[in-house]
Amino acid sequence: MRHLIPSYIRVPVVFFIIAGLIEYFVDSGDQPAFMEKPIILLFLLLVLLVLIAIEGIVSSLDNILFESLDEKGKERYLASRTKAPQLEKVNALYSKLVGKSKPIEEEGEIILDHNYDGIKELDNDLPPWWVYTFYLSILFAVVYMVRYHVFNADDQFAEYETEYAEANRAIEEYKKTAKGLVDFNTVELLTETSDLNAGKKIFETNCVACHKADGGGGIGPNLADPNWILGGGIKNVFKTISEGGRDGKGMVAWKSELKPLEMAQVSSYVLQFQGTTPAEPKAAEGDIWVDEASTNSDTETTTENTETAETVGSEN
Ligand code: HEC
Repeated sequence: MRHLIPSYIRVPVVFFIIAGLIEYFVDSGDQPAFMEKPIILLFLLLVLLVLIAIEGIVSSLDNILFESLDEKGKERYLASRTKAPQLEKVNALYSKLVGKSKPIEEEGEIILDHNYDGIKELDNDLPPWWVYTFYLSILFAVVYMVRYHVFNADDQFAEYETEYAEANRAIEEYKKTAKGLVDFNTVELLTETSDLNAGKKIFETNCVACHKADGGGGIGPNLADPNWILGGGIKNVFKTISEGGRDGKGMVAWKSELKPLEMAQVSSYVLQFQGTTPAEPKAAEGDIWVDEASTNSDTETTTENTETAETVGSEN
């Protein structure tokens, strides 16, 4: 019994099936598995070598068996081999797609009787592969026209706009989930109730002993007045809470105890005391804090807005 499929087809087919299975089952994110995990590349190389080795062994076994046959056996073997239906189906499909054209000797029967500067035309049947492709292109054109010119589906510009908007939304989402990564340079005032409530809890657990529940102050300074020893505004407050106050004053660095997000939440909560009147306010300490950053960030916001407007304008 001879193999029906030659080895130069068998080896790559088996190899790509194995590679495909690995790709399917190994979770490798956006990258192909063998790029994400070089060990897989090594494994695939090994698979290839083993496949080739198996082919080699099988064919040399074949040879040995062949040599051990007597003359009659050899003849019978060769006969069975040439009769083997190698790739018959593929060949049949191929000739079906290519079609039949008249052999050159019979071309006289199908020549058309016009003649342009010596160029004549044969009335051969069109090759089926060409005809099918042509029908497919007609079908495609109909679907395309109905979709884009009758039902006005999104064109590439509209698709670009939607994807752009989606990406922007994804960035916003990411920023929300990534707010735990803040430090005092990137921290922003949190305004959501959930964050402020979390901040309140943290404050009541850790800070009331020295700052009082209403921020009026005790061992620590009054947090409700506009005066700050170490600077007001979300960034300074975050920094004070994270790094602690001046040495020996009693305000420790909380960064080992609280997560960045928790410090951002309690900082935002602390700033809620601004403008309220505590029951027993401690006398003001430090300077009145003027938020220079707010004026700066205002201008920044305006430039950002004009930029966005310009980008939108130039797109159209
Ligand atoms: C052991 C007492 C103590 C505890 C507990 C404490 N603080 Fe303080 N806090 C102080 C003192 C004292 C200062 C002043 C530090 C200085 O003068 O350098 C201060 C300063 C501050 C300041 C800066 C005030 C300014 O005027 O610049 C903030 C903000 C603050 N604390 C927030 C907190 C928060 C939030 C907590 C809880 C996580 C907390 N503190 C826990 C004692 C405390």
